[in-house]
Amino acid sequence: MQLKSLKSADLKNKTVIVRVDYNVPLDDKGEIYDDTRIIKSIPTIRYLLDQNTKIILVSHLGRPEGKAVDNLRLEITARKLSGLLNEQVLALHDCRGEEVERAVEGMEFQDIIMLENLRFCSEEEKNDPEFARQLAGLADVFINDAFGTIHRSHASTEGITHFLPSYAGLLLEKEIYALDQTINNPERPYIAIIGGAKISTKIKLIKKLADKVDYLLLGGALANTVCKAMGYKIGKSMIESDMLRVVDDIKSQINNKIKIPQDAVLGKDGVNQEDFRIANLDQINSEETIFDIGPETIKEYSQLIKKAKTIIWNGPMGKYEVVQYAGGTNAIARAVASSSGKSIIGGGETLEAVSRLDLINRIYFVSTGGGAMLKYIEGEKMPALEALKK
Ligand code: 3PG
Repeated sequence: MQLKSLKSADLKNKTVIVRVDYNVPLDDKGEIYDDTRIIKSIPTIRYLLDQNTKIILVSHLGRPEGKAVDNLRLEITARKLSGLLNEQVLALHDCRGEEVERAVEGMEFQDIIMLENLRFCSEEEKNDPEFARQLAGLADVFINDAFGTIHRSHASTEGITHFLPSYAGLLLEKEIYALDQTINNPERPYIAIIGGAKISTKIKLIKKLADKVDYLLLGGALANTVCKAMGYKIGKSMIESDMLRVVDDIKSQINNKIKIPQDAVLGKDGVNQEDFRIANLDQINSEETIFDIGPETIKEYSQLIKKAKTIIWNGPMGKYEVVQYAGGTNAIARAVASSSGKSIIGGGETLEAVSRLDLINRIYFVSTGGGAMLKYIEGEKMPALEALKK
């Protein structure tokens, strides 16, 4: 079933409430260090300005758990958006109540206001119908452009659709289209690269992808759990012991379709610059820890990536934030960027690793979703998305 596009809606002179995902990464000083999600929301906002609408933006930032947290206020994102759009964006200090109602009443066409972080109200994540009704009461139409939160059934993503005509924004449509093309109609060879820390959050995806792709390349600490389940002695490497048995389900595909690292960069504490060495997987001492994939693995993975026509990548190959353990992630980023295949990447860490090497422009599609992208590929039904279908 197709999404209801905002382009099919009669929006002229209406008040629209737009769910964006401005959950952007902040540095130690509280500054935004990656504004991709804000930039990617601009086409929808420009379209709405062209339709002479009043625009109310809503988002979350971080996980404040129902309390106001000063360094998670959305004002910083409003300022960033304002600079990018060259339009005024008024940031409010609440997401409901009198201040909000008064500000909305006073809006002129083409004004943009941004409500305060929705997750300062515990009702947002509880998908509280009364809170959803209050948000809906501010506008005539709801537009969801927050692909990154599409897997969440919250008041501003799912609840609100019960009270207003609801449409998909341009970014959301683009994300779904790019993923559908890849998942349903991949050019082959089709390769998925899955890294990151926890296999528990990705095992469902790994199983799903293993049926679809030609090769599935594993890295990061999640591969440790698989290696351990395969009988390798991996020293003090991080694993999820309660997931060892789950790996049984994919064991028969390992070393055929599913590739695991054959060598690794090892260290003792992950910080000390002096103590790292490279070894095959069967030569790891009991005191050592795996922090990255090794050169033989890089070679094998890169050769497969080079031949791929479709590539999905989510999750780093190691502790890439420490320079001597960044080699694997960097090499995979370079291989993906230089492949002639269509590449889709998602997840904050993967994006960061690729951006750091200035390779983002060489990626076919950069998803703004981390968890959302994974859940979509898993084929999970998402009520917030279902509500936007025809
Ligand atoms: C994300 O960053 O993946 C989305 O904004 C969702 O955030 P959440 O995992 O806190 O719901």
